Amino acid sequence: MSKLRVAVLGVGHLGQHHARIAASSEHAELVAVVDPSEERGTEIAEKVGTRWVANLAEILGAVDAVQIAAPTGFHHGLGLEVLRAGKHLLMEKPLAASLAEGDALLAALAEARTTNPKLVACVGHLERFNPAVVALRAANFKPKFIEAIRVSPFPMRSLEVDVVMDVMIHDLDLLLALVQRPVVDVEAVGVPVLTKHPDLVNARLKFEGGAFATVTASRVARKKERTLRAFGNQEYASLDFAAQKLEILRLKMGEHGPEVIPETVDIEEGEPLKLEIEAFHRACLGEGEDYVTWAEGLEAMRVADLVQKAVAESLAAMLEA
Ligand SMILES: NC(=O)c1ccc[n+]([C@@H]2O[C@H](COP(=O)([O-])OP(=O)(O)OC[C@H]3O[C@@H](n4cnc5c(N)ncnc54)[C@H](O)[C@@H]3O)[C@@H](O)[C@H]2O)c1
Repeated sequence: MSKLRVAVLGVGHLGQHHARIAASSEHAELVAVVDPSEERGTEIAEKVGTRWVANLAEILGAVDAVQIAAPTGFHHGLGLEVLRAGKHLLMEKPLAASLAEGDALLAALAEARTTNPKLVACVGHLERFNPAVVALRAANFKPKFIEAIRVSPFPMRSLEVDVVMDVMIHDLDLLLALVQRPVVDVEAVGVPVLTKHPDLVNARLKFEGGAFATVTASRVARKKERTLRAFGNQEYASLDFAAQKLEILRLKMGEHGPEVIPETVDIEEGEPLKLEIEAFHRACLGEGEDYVTWAEGLEAMRVADLVQKAVAESLAAMLEA
């Protein structure tokens, strides 16, 4: 089968890895990287052995698929351009900068699929491809309560959005995928610390059916921590995203009565971004449908929006007091 012809749009902090992975994908040929910065574009193009172009329009006719890793504010406009050309599209997370733009992207996708029903459009929620997450989902765990923590030192980038859309959205998407029920209630608190947006947020979500989750996201932590604990019926799981470790503890009958038995799940480590991008390439070539859909990306944004509104209310109440 011939290779998928791909362009990577935006080769900054994350896009350079999109380019590296696309250039070495057995399913794809990286036709070009696109970036308005000539200096950055040529640097990455040389590194991965392709060419740089300044504008998407210069290359769109020569590719089958585009991976967008430009700043979130550009997702909407660039996404529409790619859809109008009928090309497959991997959009970095969050899908768009606002719910209105996300809705518009989904409407444009539905329109594009009337001509090409096989058009692939996915969103870069790469933690779904983290082997520890794949193992947890395969364990068919039915969580009643989940605690997710994603904190890191101040990044000095992505500061145009708050920590909810930038960081917490990873866990919001995962919670929706794990619980598989809609969120019916959200409470949240958060504070701006180093930027004008909330840099530290804690949210409590209630799902239809009664499951709960608490989620903490911070970009003003001393050290990085990315963990998730899920509690079900006579079993609980502890997951470390960075170490790709999953431990499941179950209540079982031992020799001397009931015992909690820890079981470390065997996991074959892998780079989540690489697994995600290669699954996208395979899907574009008609081999599988293993990707996070735009509808799912928009659903995570809707929950993020509810969290942002609850944080805004709690901040307003704090100022009034
Ligand atoms: N999935 C993840 O874990 C993850 C991690 C980091 C960033 N991201 C997402 O990736 C996107 C980029 O983030 P980043 O941290 O790499 O940003 P960045 O600022 O480091 O890089 C953005 C790059 O895009 C280029 N660019 C700007 N406008 C462009 C345009 N119109 N067309 C093409 N390129 C353009 C810039 O010159 C720059 O090189 C954001 O949407 C962010 O949310 C996702």
